[in-house]
Amino acid sequence: MLNKLMGRKKSEQVDKEKSLDFSSENIPKHIAIIMDGNGRWAKKRGLPRVAGHREGMNVIREIVSTSNEIGVEVLTLYAFSTENWKRPKTEVDFLMRLPERFLNVELPKLIEENVVVRITGERENLPEYTKRAVNKAVEATKENNGLILNFALNYGSRSEIIDGIKSLYKEIEAGEMDINEISESVLSDHLMTANLNDPDLLIRTSGEIRLSNFMLWQLAYSEFWFTDVLWPDFSREHFIEAVRVYQNRQRRYGGV
Ligand code: IPE
Ligand code: IPE
Ligand code: MG
Repeated sequence: MLNKLMGRKKSEQVDKEKSLDFSSENIPKHIAIIMDGNGRWAKKRGLPRVAGHREGMNVIREIVSTSNEIGVEVLTLYAFSTENWKRPKTEVDFLMRLPERFLNVELPKLIEENVVVRITGERENLPEYTKRAVNKAVEATKENNGLILNFALNYGSRSEIIDGIKSLYKEIEAGEMDINEISESVLSDHLMTANLNDPDLLIRTSGEIRLSNFMLWQLAYSEFWFTDVLWPDFSREHFIEAVRVYQNRQRRYGGV
């Protein structure tokens, strides 16, 4: 199972499991995270909200490398929702600069660690500098075949579903598909997450218990794990705790 531990020797693997106190069996293949609480983290310290976003960016590094180590296949991070444009312009501008700031430092390491960068979301309306940074990362990692690091950027699930329905409609209108061929997997293939498996585990930080328009279709049978920890305080240990809880869940999918 953990041959994904990048060729690590068995003994090292056991040491890792011991130090992190988790089992290498039944690792969630796809983990999605709603990284929330940056603003409150900053406010608690009397800092501007953007200081929380900067701190939150550093947490991403640790969670990506831990995901890679334990053999997660896909890590989806909700970075900016279609509703986040409602925020003050200075905050939006700062958030739009983050991919560039993150990737300027991290891209060489991501390439080296065999990570594939993907973007799920509407790229069209992003500022040029954001588009440039993410396109460069996607291009530079497209031949890799390790962990898929999928940023949900300018993502909204309802509009994603509407777009999926529109593209199905076009195919039917063009006579390329019959209405009776529409199935769950066909609709899945018309969403922005086409060819990614649904998340096995959803994590949301900061104590909010809601989806905020995130992967409404894809999360139908995912396991949810919520924590009060604010995203900038989230650590490798919290992440492993979520994985451990997941491993003790019983997924029944409506069966017994
Ligand atoms: C999450 O933190 C980051 C984004 C939504 C971009 P918030 O900025 O939502 O932080 P809170 O929820 O206001 O504390
Ligand atoms: C969800 O968090 C979006 C991201 C984490 C990118 P929000 O902070 O925007 O969600 P609400 O407003 O609390 O629902
Ligand atoms: Mg929030």
